[in-house]
Amino acid sequence: MESGQKAVTFKIGLLGYGTVGTGTAEIILDPSGRNSLLKEIEIAKVGVRSLDKPRSPELPVGILTTDLESIVTDPEISIVVELLGGLEPSRSLILKAIANGKNIVTANKAVIARHGEEIYNAANDAGVYVLLEAAVGGGIPVIKPLKQSLGVNRIQTVIGIINGTTNYILTQMTEEGADFGEVLTEAQKLGYAEADPTADVDGYDAADKIAILAAIAFGGRIKRDDIPCEGIRKINATDISYADDLGFVIKLLAIAKANENNDSLQVRVHPTLVSKEHPLANVNGVNNAVLVEGDPLGQVMLFGPGAGKGATASAVVSDIVNIVGILLTNNTNE
Ligand code: HSE
Repeated sequence: MESGQKAVTFKIGLLGYGTVGTGTAEIILDPSGRNSLLKEIEIAKVGVRSLDKPRSPELPVGILTTDLESIVTDPEISIVVELLGGLEPSRSLILKAIANGKNIVTANKAVIARHGEEIYNAANDAGVYVLLEAAVGGGIPVIKPLKQSLGVNRIQTVIGIINGTTNYILTQMTEEGADFGEVLTEAQKLGYAEADPTADVDGYDAADKIAILAAIAFGGRIKRDDIPCEGIRKINATDISYADDLGFVIKLLAIAKANENNDSLQVRVHPTLVSKEHPLANVNGVNNAVLVEGDPLGQVMLFGPGAGKGATASAVVSDIVNIVGILLTNNTNE
């Protein structure tokens, strides 16, 4: 091969080309100075709802399709990247892709929190990978560290600020003395909060994410619907001011905690008074953090941008590259 020539060996299909999808394409189409395996990846198909919208970055002609099933059944595609969000058609498409021997990368916390077991079982049977680093903590590596680097520890607690929208709102309320409604409107204007902010402000998004983290950290199955969940709608400027006088800030925490004998687990999401001295108290704006406590390690805090195009796409593409690395190793060993 001549130097500079692109050696394309792995074709991927994207389901969805919204914010994270375009961020993913931007990284893959600009591999210079990044992981050399990016040069082995080609975006073969991108599934979208409509072909009429202008797209940036522009993709080669013929790549966009509204036929999402054609992506998960395409014999040339080895990795399907699910960026649709929501439960359906995501669940069905992921299962169909697995049945067709595709590896999966997903940023979809809702589908993994509720249907993770079904999806992992299908993947085990098919001998394919399902990676989901982007589903929790945006760009912060948290799934892989929990599974691998911290895996030999007996985990006692996982506490996260794992919703960027609510953390932004609480931070603004604290800094400006403003009320929830005012800051939510401002956050929507700035594009930080969704037009329908329910999943974020009522804590459901954080509950999906802690269900995933708890299942990895503690093993076993977490029933998402059993997680008690309270959001931040009822927090007002007076609560925040009283907390401040007493030396606390208010944060929406997602908590998974084992009991002393390590034989039962509490998982919950609710606004919490956090001492200003605590490391989580200084996690502000759209940043996320996950504090893990285990034996013998003690405490580790993973901190960084918990949402946004580049951050989330970084996690998605890292998972793609991980799978490509494994597939290349397997090919070499065959
Ligand atoms: N709506 C989510 C948040 C996006 O605000 O954290 C990232 O999962």
